Amino acid sequence: MKIAILNGSPKGDLSITMQYVHFIAKKFPQHSYRTHDVAQQVHKLARDEKAFEAVMEDIRASDAVIWSFPIYAFLVPAQYKRFIELIFDRNAKKHFKNKYTVTLSTSMRFFDHTAHNYMQGICDDLDMKFCGAYSADMQDLLDEAQREKLLIFAEDLFRAVGDKRPTMKMYPPLVHSSFTYKPGPVVKKVDNRGKRILILTDLEKPKTNLGRMIQRIEAAFTGGTEVINLNDIDIKGGCLGCIQCGFDNRCVYLGKDGFIDFYDKSYRTADAVIFAPRIKDRYYSWTWKLLYDRGFYNGHTPVLKGKQILYILSGPLGQIPNLQQMIAASSEIGGANLVGIVTDESGDSKTIDALLQSGAEQMMRFDELQYVKPPSFLYVGGHKIFRDMVFGGARFVFQADYNYYRKNKMFDFPHRDKKAIAFNKKMMDLMKDPATKEEIRKMMKKEMVRPHQKVVATK
Ligand SMILES: Cc1cc2nc3c(=O)[nH]c(=O)nc-3n(C[C@H](O)[C@H](O)[C@H](O)COP(=O)(O)O)c2cc1C
Repeated sequence: MKIAILNGSPKGDLSITMQYVHFIAKKFPQHSYRTHDVAQQVHKLARDEKAFEAVMEDIRASDAVIWSFPIYAFLVPAQYKRFIELIFDRNAKKHFKNKYTVTLSTSMRFFDHTAHNYMQGICDDLDMKFCGAYSADMQDLLDEAQREKLLIFAEDLFRAVGDKRPTMKMYPPLVHSSFTYKPGPVVKKVDNRGKRILILTDLEKPKTNLGRMIQRIEAAFTGGTEVINLNDIDIKGGCLGCIQCGFDNRCVYLGKDGFIDFYDKSYRTADAVIFAPRIKDRYYSWTWKLLYDRGFYNGHTPVLKGKQILYILSGPLGQIPNLQQMIAASSEIGGANLVGIVTDESGDSKTIDALLQSGAEQMMRFDELQYVKPPSFLYVGGHKIFRDMVFGGARFVFQADYNYYRKNKMFDFPHRDKKAIAFNKKMMDLMKDPATKEEIRKMMKKEMVRPHQKVVATK
């Protein structure tokens, strides 16, 4: 069988994920493998149509395709996203049709599922025969039992091709609306009390629904807003994955382009941020993805802590729950308060005007109250992954994070909760007596709610 590998790591063959692919290739030498470093080479592929066509030709000639990539900020790296956009923009979808395929990633398994959901959606959009996703931890290859699992996964792909196994699509095609939003006048302006409100976008055409939504919300504030378009910032490229920033937050691009200046002076210093990214396929544009990937020089720290953020979007967000989850997660992980999301999906200009107006009002009210709603599982679970990593195996790599976490008391391990440890010991000692254990069993419901009832009664 001919297997095409689409390498999504900006590190090319120094990719950890590619070592998993090489291991598969070594154990199944009866097949032939061709790797394309499409993320590392994406500038060339965008510039040079012949180089892009050569990759497509290899896809066409292959029996199966392995999408191999690292997880970057809930998704795949911006460079890989750009390659995916090239496939659709250049009508190259036909080369992928009916090809058997799998996705294979390495990561710390922080929001690996959103990346794999996205990639499966893309495989479905490309009419491929999706046979499964494999999300490995970065260190899995070093473990015998994990290596065995990986080989079962690979063998299953080869069997699927050999057996012409039927496959199923999970993600229906997105339906786009042709509705044109016509904004009405702003009746009542919202006082921004001298606060700096940043509207961040990657808009390419102002005469679009998103462009008009931005104008409408810009006009809603008394003190004006600042609009920054990512396309106007000199960004030389995507994150290179070198992790050199982990020591002291110093990015290798420092002084080489305008991104860090923008990030430090305009983005993270804003009092509130209105995000207005373009939806492109099942995510935003690759340009927008640069914001998250290049922002990685700040490590795993909450860069928007305590800020209000509002999203305004044009496109079928309701059909992309995976993107909804990423919006909620990135807000929570960033330490911000997600005021809301306004889209043009209602297809009614007056409704959109009203939503933008109330979004602006709510944003300023929450800002005044310094309100950040309690986080959900998305933050709580994600934080524990970061915390354990920064404290444990990756402490040397992420020294800047370690210092930040220590200073901000983010190493909140349960084994450091002295009160809980003492209480548990006392109760477990008591429960050694079978009669007491039975007594306690009956008291559980009442005792659990007792402190809450006390608050309700006295506060
Ligand atoms: C910019 C950047 C963002 C990352 N984001 C995530 C993430 O969201 N979730 C995660 O589990 N790992 C994340 N990682 C870790 C990588 O997924 C991990 O190191 C991976 O094994 C790298 O694979 P590669 O060597 O094939 O590029 C990130 C790394 C970088 C450099």
